[in-house]
Amino acid sequence: MKIGIIGIGFVGLSFAAALGSKGYEVLAIDSDQDKVKKIKKGNTPFYEPSLSPLLQKALKRSLEVSSDTEKAVDECDLIFITVGTPATSKGGINLNSLRAVAKTIGQTLAKSKNKPIIAIKSTVTPGTNQAIKQIIEKESKKKSGKDFGIISNPEFLREGRAVDDTFNPHIVVIGGEDSKTINKVKKFYEGFYNFTIPYITTNTQTAEMIKYANNSFLATKISFINQIANICQSIPGTNVDDIAKAIGIDPRIGEQFLKAGPGYGGSCLPKDIKALISFSENCGQSPTLLKAVQTTNSQQVENLVSLMNKVLTSLRGKRISILGLSFKEDSDDIRESVSINLIKRLLKHKAKIVAHDPMAIENTRKLIGDKISYTKSVSEALKDSECVVIMTPWRQYTKLNNKDLQLMKNKMIVDTRRLLTKKKLDAKYYATGLGFDN
Ligand code: UGA
Repeated sequence: MKIGIIGIGFVGLSFAAALGSKGYEVLAIDSDQDKVKKIKKGNTPFYEPSLSPLLQKALKRSLEVSSDTEKAVDECDLIFITVGTPATSKGGINLNSLRAVAKTIGQTLAKSKNKPIIAIKSTVTPGTNQAIKQIIEKESKKKSGKDFGIISNPEFLREGRAVDDTFNPHIVVIGGEDSKTINKVKKFYEGFYNFTIPYITTNTQTAEMIKYANNSFLATKISFINQIANICQSIPGTNVDDIAKAIGIDPRIGEQFLKAGPGYGGSCLPKDIKALISFSENCGQSPTLLKAVQTTNSQQVENLVSLMNKVLTSLRGKRISILGLSFKEDSDDIRESVSINLIKRLLKHKAKIVAHDPMAIENTRKLIGDKISYTKSVSEALKDSECVVIMTPWRQYTKLNNKDLQLMKNKMIVDTRRLLTKKKLDAKYYATGLGFDN
């Protein structure tokens, strides 16, 4: 069985590398030729732990990388589409890349004897698979279910954990219209994984909706615990992590995604909530809960600015150190990063920002340039600072100690991830979700 993967982002590249490393014949396609060149040399276009060595292993075994979509359509039995579906300005999703791929697939199928199965992994709102099927049918003048198969196969991997999540997914969802195609895809996965993973087979639109329900529920858990954290801050001595631990033991709640913080960011949760809100409104359903989740999330960064403004009296001209720029640890991704959002707000208040991140400085520099300064070490970032804000829970920030704090002009810490709660620090210490004494 030859596998095609169209779109080499986090999902596509991790999947291609995982399959190739196990000897599956894989053809990974991306229209971005610079990206293809880089990947062919074994270099990943973004930082993702363990992905580079896996990619190199896959390239040595059975992974081919190119920009030739026609070749994939002509030669592959199972083709995964993993192109991006970024947000539009109106909160929907931009399907341009997906539609372009569908058109090429259709036009190639028109001249080909191949009868591949197309599995859409890109996150798309219900009804999109149907629309893509129609594009392929129109361009190829062939019938789905007879001349090609089409499947919705949403993906649940996390950035920073992409390799592990690709090899050990918590679920495989396969949505389709005919059982023959569904069974072929299920068999492929059972060969790659094993039979212990839960497989959910359903119709296409339900599979599409599962992905939105999943990410929206995760976002809901985060906004819930953030709201509890905010209440805790008004009760001196309260600790949100103990509350999360206790409620997380209740199997009806579950312990994961209850870490209070500055709000969720990244290329997925904010975009998917937005898209589901817009989709729901178009269906005539008022998405009251989803909107509250979104509002609670955006409020978190405002709360941080208010706190700093209050404690420092004014932010104008104050040197503020920001530790962490990526939206989460083990990633250089700054898309919808709350840290970047915070920096933009602090700049409006005329604060002077000095930022540190082990991986995301290059990406941040491309976005905000020299409006802020960047440092290679945490101690450089702290020098003469009037407040240090821990935004991303990189492990190295847990090492911050009183010696480092000596470098500051005013010893004030805002710890949005509670990395330093166990330390006795000689500083004014404010942590998200810990009751303040003043
Ligand atoms: C998310 C989902 O977790 C994946 O299952 C999904 O496949 C992916 O979106 C996607 O749709 O492609 P990801 O965006 O990589 O994955 O990152 P998460 O681990 O979900 O974190 C998102 C944000 O929530 C981060 O800013 C993180 O710091 C924050 N977060 C997460 C919290 O504030 N508290 C938590 O308890 C968990």
